[in-house]
Amino acid sequence: MCGIVGYIGGQQAAPLLLEGLTRLEHRGYDSAGLAVLGPSGVRVAKQAGRVRDLGDGLPKRFTGKIGIGHTRWATHGPATDANAHPHTDESGRVAVVHNGIIDNAAALRLELADAGVELVSDTDTEVLAHLVARSTADTLEARTAEALARVEGTYGIAVTHADFPDRIVVARNGSPLIIGVGKNEMHVASDLAALVRYTTTVAHLADGEMATVTADGFSTYLVRTIDGAGHVGLAATDRRASEVEIDPSSYDAGEHDSFMHKEMLEQPARAEAVLRGRLDEKFGTGHLGGLNLDARELRAIKRVKILGCGSAYYVGQMGAALIEELARIPADAEAASEFRYRNPIIEPDTLYVAVSQSGETIDTLLAVQEIQRKGGFVIGLVNVVGSAIAREVDGGIYLHAGPEVAVASTKALTNMFLAFAMLAVQLGRVRDLSISDGRRLIAGLNAIPGQVAEVLGREEELAEVARELAGAENLFFVGRVRGFPVAREGAQKFKEISYRHAEAYQTSELKHGPLALISPEVPTVAIVPDDELVERNVAALHEIAARGGPLTVVTHAGVDLGDLERTARRIDVPRSERELDPILLTIPLQVLAYHAALSLGHDIDKPRNLAKSVTVE
Ligand code: AGP
Repeated sequence: MCGIVGYIGGQQAAPLLLEGLTRLEHRGYDSAGLAVLGPSGVRVAKQAGRVRDLGDGLPKRFTGKIGIGHTRWATHGPATDANAHPHTDESGRVAVVHNGIIDNAAALRLELADAGVELVSDTDTEVLAHLVARSTADTLEARTAEALARVEGTYGIAVTHADFPDRIVVARNGSPLIIGVGKNEMHVASDLAALVRYTTTVAHLADGEMATVTADGFSTYLVRTIDGAGHVGLAATDRRASEVEIDPSSYDAGEHDSFMHKEMLEQPARAEAVLRGRLDEKFGTGHLGGLNLDARELRAIKRVKILGCGSAYYVGQMGAALIEELARIPADAEAASEFRYRNPIIEPDTLYVAVSQSGETIDTLLAVQEIQRKGGFVIGLVNVVGSAIAREVDGGIYLHAGPEVAVASTKALTNMFLAFAMLAVQLGRVRDLSISDGRRLIAGLNAIPGQVAEVLGREEELAEVARELAGAENLFFVGRVRGFPVAREGAQKFKEISYRHAEAYQTSELKHGPLALISPEVPTVAIVPDDELVERNVAALHEIAARGGPLTVVTHAGVDLGDLERTARRIDVPRSERELDPILLTIPLQVLAYHAALSLGHDIDKPRNLAKSVTVE
């Protein structure tokens, strides 16, 4: 949510900053801006709209070899030119870009206004520029630290000052900040995506840490308050840069029209990556070393509680069903965004599981902290290595999905499911799951990457269905038990990028109300695996058909839809082990959402009002 870039070195900063912002646009894309520090002081260009608009409108001579940039997802104030970052003080000598939220911004704004400062934006960030400018400390580091000492909330910031033209000062508290080391030049970013084209030698700041970045290197420190007057001291820390193993091309969409398309098609390979080395065929179990739990501790678990947001929550529901079924441990999933607000009971023999692609989602992170504050044990299913949630949890399973750029999550979700399946098998095998069942499931898991590829290979056929569904303003996605979280995820993906109203319902609940909405204008996508509920599911579909509702049935070959065969459209997915069905039923729903959005001409990777990582409450 929002992206920061910075550059200092021998080249002109503006083109590099624009390039970095383009790479970060998935983090927020309602406005963008940059500030460069050149011979004539600080120059700022910023506006509502996309990074390309900013680039197009940039004056020819926008020179300076130091600069900071930002792409915004509005929190305080609408997307306007004035609210875009960077923000400056009244003299225009200080420029600040900021990710995160300053909770006491209203009070600070009042205080500044009382002191005669004219605030020109609605943002919380602007106060930082004024606070830095008003500090009388000797160094930019101390001025920034004094400003930050006044602030409550979260931030990743980068600051330039015309009086200190050889440096950028950066700081982190709850919002990522990375320094990239180049040759006689340095980069700053909130996300690796903006750096990897220039360098893979990086240092991640820790929460509470600040750094000075010059063209030759960087130094880091922690801030100590030394007196009641708000003066601060800086204590050096020994943060070093290290190499990250990353293929820079993973941040390029390549020949694909969107990252979502690329990431969907990557799923077979990424699914193999999450399973690699973690399946024990001999003993029919999972081998998840990162859990930091031995067999005795796994056996002592009495309950599993899964927390995630949005699609991660829906996959969490799939995971809870797997765990209950295979390990016979009570398990459920809850939206992490609601969890801590009900003063949850944290039990010592419950395994808490936080699920997150980004590892940055603030609601999930705060749920982890609530659990840990109350003494609970929490593991993470996280994709981004070294992210906040990955660092805070007591153990976990990395998802190895590779960088996911599209707002609509696909490959990370598939790998979440597979990680849950391995966890469920491992929990089951220290209980009553037999070795033959364990082996059956391990074989099933091994087959999944190839089966995912099989579904994706039918893209054209699915695109045709999608184009038809895209014509409806309102749709239902329905399923039961294992199929219900699949329906929820299908509806989420569809609404997220097609902007159609897609509502997920338990098939069994339709007749208790929503059946009233069924009509020839309201299609239903029904999830009907060939399981113990298939006949009941098919019966409910007749109730929809009888009201003229068009049906698309995601099912298995051989499932007899009776006289619905004449009118319903069917999408058959490969058969897996029943417990593993949900993931193969989910894949065509991704393709439907993608092609519906494509046919409607939407920006697939940057759906309106959304951003990739939700780092604000
Ligand atoms: C998925 O398509 C959505 N964009 C969204 O629901 C997402 O899954 C959710 O915000 C959680 O993100 P996380 O996995 O990074 O925590």
